[in-house]
Amino acid sequence: MFTLHTTCRACGLGNQIPTLKQTASGGPALNHDSLRSVVDLGIQPLANDFCAAAQPRAGYAPLRVLYCPRCTLAQLSVVVDPAVLYRHYSYVTSPSRTMLEHFAKLASDIKAETDGRYLLEIGSNDGALLLAFGKVGFEECIGVDPAANLCELARKNGCTVVNQFFTQQVAREISASYRPDVILARHVFCHIDNWKDFVAGLQELIGPDTLVCLEVPYAGDLLRRGEFDTIYHEHLSFLTITSIEHLLRDSGLHLHRIIEYPIHGGAVLLMLRSDQHGKPASPSVGDYLIHERTTMNEDAWIRLGINARNNIDVLRAYVRNLRDNGKRVAGLGASAKSTVWINACSFTRKEIDYIADTTTLKQYKTSPGSDIPIVDEGAIVRDLPDYVICFAWNFKEEILQKFEGIRKQGVKFVFPSPTIEVV
Ligand code: TYD
Repeated sequence: MFTLHTTCRACGLGNQIPTLKQTASGGPALNHDSLRSVVDLGIQPLANDFCAAAQPRAGYAPLRVLYCPRCTLAQLSVVVDPAVLYRHYSYVTSPSRTMLEHFAKLASDIKAETDGRYLLEIGSNDGALLLAFGKVGFEECIGVDPAANLCELARKNGCTVVNQFFTQQVAREISASYRPDVILARHVFCHIDNWKDFVAGLQELIGPDTLVCLEVPYAGDLLRRGEFDTIYHEHLSFLTITSIEHLLRDSGLHLHRIIEYPIHGGAVLLMLRSDQHGKPASPSVGDYLIHERTTMNEDAWIRLGINARNNIDVLRAYVRNLRDNGKRVAGLGASAKSTVWINACSFTRKEIDYIADTTTLKQYKTSPGSDIPIVDEGAIVRDLPDYVICFAWNFKEEILQKFEGIRKQGVKFVFPSPTIEVV
């Protein structure tokens, strides 16, 4: 189900796994060149492996982060087979107000950068973003997505989509009949193992004026805010601008502009342009590179790992104490982040009765690695538990507003990240 990953996918630094014989003789296991192990969250299930009672679970894999001292990229020590993760996918782009507002902002920022009319979205999910770009004047928007269930949903929503992983080969096939002015991939790039092939796919499709937009979670935000729960098997890489700069050397593409957004706990939109494009790069790129020289280092990752352990211990003790005192505890948001917390804390139904979530694909299944059932969101209002642990902390304001009524009735909302907060 997974393979080990030992070299940096941005700059190539790293070693092969030493053999037993080499290790015994003090071989290259601690070679100065190799990637450094900085965060270890143990053995975890796949974060979106929501299964019905009788369905077999996909399995477990180590969840460990390796840091590259040469280009500052952090990446997981394993790669889970993408077919296992993405051929059927239960994460549907959230229809939340926060997300829709973000889509509108993203579309208008991209529109301001280009007068292009043809868009290709890589990882188009249920088509929500394709529709948002249609509304701001793009004439044609086509999606590519590996999940058959989501492509079906997108087609029902009126979108044109290709049910494939984005590879150089698929890009070549698309380019025979479609030349996009804008290529957009939201929260896709850090899920991809073979970056060289992805970049080669972009090269098949772009001309001198094509705008490539990659929205990715930013490692700087993860480190600054201690968002260790965004480390799970789908997120193979934790991006820095320095590492992308390394990756793009000699590719014919360069970083053109960077825009930051608060979505998902802190994301950046990387605008890439062909080297043949005339306009100079925005100062935002240089600003990030300078800032990262002093903020991105191995120590920052090691501190994150230590803080993660502390926060896990705090939430575990807090919830167990509530239960010992007879309180009823539910969860809200069966996010991938919830899987990380639940497994790191070893929570079962003994601690959390259920997790409420709006996503129908997750409902009446169980939380990966645990026996906690996922139910509809209204359950919280019907049931009025004493405490609700909010695993979708990135939608905090929206959640507090939505549940104002039951908060007035005494239901307490607990946000575990960045440090535990009871509202
Ligand atoms: P999200 O934070 O978008 O991502 P990830 O899975 O990458 O951690 O997931 C949020 C989950 O919370 C998603 O399944 C939808 C759910 N949710 C609710 O049930 N109610 C809400 O009000 C909101 C905002 C989200």
